[in-house]
Parts: sequence; C-alpha cells; structure tokens
Amino acid sequence: MSSRQATEGRMAALLVTATLAALALAGVYIAGGQPQAEGALLGVSLGGIGVALVLWARGLASEGTVVGERGDLAGDAADEAAVEERIEEVLDEQPGRRSVLRLFWAAGGALGLAAVFPLRSLGPAPGRALLTTAWYRGARLVDVNGRPLTVGTLQVGGTLTAFPQGAQHAGDSQVVVVRVADGELRPRPGRESWSPQGYVAYSKICPHVGCPVSLYQADAHELLCPCHQSTFDVLDGARPTFGPATRSLPQLPLAVDAQGYLIAQADFDEPVGPGFWNRD
Ligand code: FES
Repeated sequence: MSSRQATEGRMAALLVTATLAALALAGVYIAGGQPQAEGALLGVSLGGIGVALVLWARGLASEGTVVGERGDLAGDAADEAAVEERIEEVLDEQPGRRSVLRLFWAAGGALGLAAVFPLRSLGPAPGRALLTTAWYRGARLVDVNGRPLTVGTLQVGGTLTAFPQGAQHAGDSQVVVVRVADGELRPRPGRESWSPQGYVAYSKICPHVGCPVSLYQADAHELLCPCHQSTFDVLDGARPTFGPATRSLPQLPLAVDAQGYLIAQADFDEPVGPGFWNRD
C-alpha cells in the first residue's frame, strides 16, 4: 500500500467517524439532549473533520512545487470545455481522492444537519409579550397584600408599590404610586386625565438596567433608583434629571371608579424596562 493510499484510508476513517458522530449528535438532541454527550460528539465530529483536513493539506493537496509556463491565457469556450473535461478525467483517474472529497461533503452535511436542530431550542417567538403588561382597562390597583387602593389610601406626599389585581406576581407590571397635591403636576399633552386627585403611577422598572425604582423624596418630588442613582421628576412625567437613565419611566393612566377604587385606564402606552430596541 502506497503512502497516498494509507493517507486516504486514514482520512476516510476520520470522516466516516465524524459523520457518524454528527448524526449521533442530532439523535441525542432529538432524544431530549444530554450536554456532556452532545459536547463529546461535537468534539469528535469537528476533530475528525479538522484532522482529515490537515492530512489532506499535507499529503494529498500538494505534491511539491509545480511550475508551469504561463503562456497565452486567452481562450474560448472550446478551450474551457477541454479543460473541464481534462479535470474530470484526472479526477476519474484518482478514485481515492474523489471518494475522500465525497466523504468530506458527507461529514460537513451531517454536521450542518446537527447544527440545524438546536434552532428548536430558541423556543416560541415572544409575539407581543414584550410590548404589553398585565394592566388592562378597569384593572384595580392593589398593594403587596392584595388590598385594593382607594382615593383615600395615600396622603399627599405618600407613595407605595402597586400591582394589577389578580396579577400581583407579574414582574413587569408593578408600579410606584405617588400622591401629589392637586395642581402640582405638569402633565404631558394627552395625559391630562391620567392622574386623578393627584395620584400618579409610573413603572417601577428603571429604564437604565431594570432595578426597582424604590425611593421617593417627597419634598423634591423625585423618584430615585438605588442602583446607579438615576433620578426622575414625578411632576414632569418621571423625566430623568440625574444619573445614567435616559428615558422617562412609563406612566400608567389612572382613573377612579364609581366605588372610589383606583383603576387603570389602559395598559402602558410604551414598553416598560431597559434597553428596548424600538425606543430612542
Ligand atoms: S438601574 Fe436604575 S440607575 Fe441603573
């Protein structure tokens, strides 16, 4: 057996092993997955292809320096056809090399197939889940113990954290409710009816990196985020006045129902939380 044939044999064995490992990797994933086994099979498959490539480069791709006369490069369609025909003839004369190339394709294809399956792990598309919260028109505001808030719950200068009734565990829906004196607020256009009797509610999730905005300085009418000291002006739509936050806290439109309970007029009119990719 010549050294070329021996090299081809080793490459064939490596590529067959890589192909089987890639197919086994796909099988393990389909069967439910096992991280250690998947890692080992991926290593075997990639390693087999890699070593085969090295062998190919060192033993088969080159047979030393070949120097050819450049000559006239101009050619016509007949010349091109003749060259292609000659290449095919050369390949046909070297069945070992051609079969090795086929094994390369097989191993690469099997590995590509195995790489497609994990797309399933991305899970379902989020849909509108990132754009909405648990608030809805008519939802009562409740405190941490589930008690509904009424117009008499807070004195001017008071604050508490509230949740939509029935969805107290919805982390993206918690709001900080503040009561200010009538006439102090400077509502933004279109928000004139969002703050009945001085009650105003803002998302509690800091738009910087998501810490809970949990401190209120009543004398300055400022909400503070303890993580990086972002400060928000309660009277001016929770506009950031200090710190790294660059966006206002989303405001929940409030109303008072016939029984005197604080309710939401609707969900937030913008996404809550930090770094939302559709916001400036
Ligand atoms: S998370 Fe609030 S300031 Fe950084």
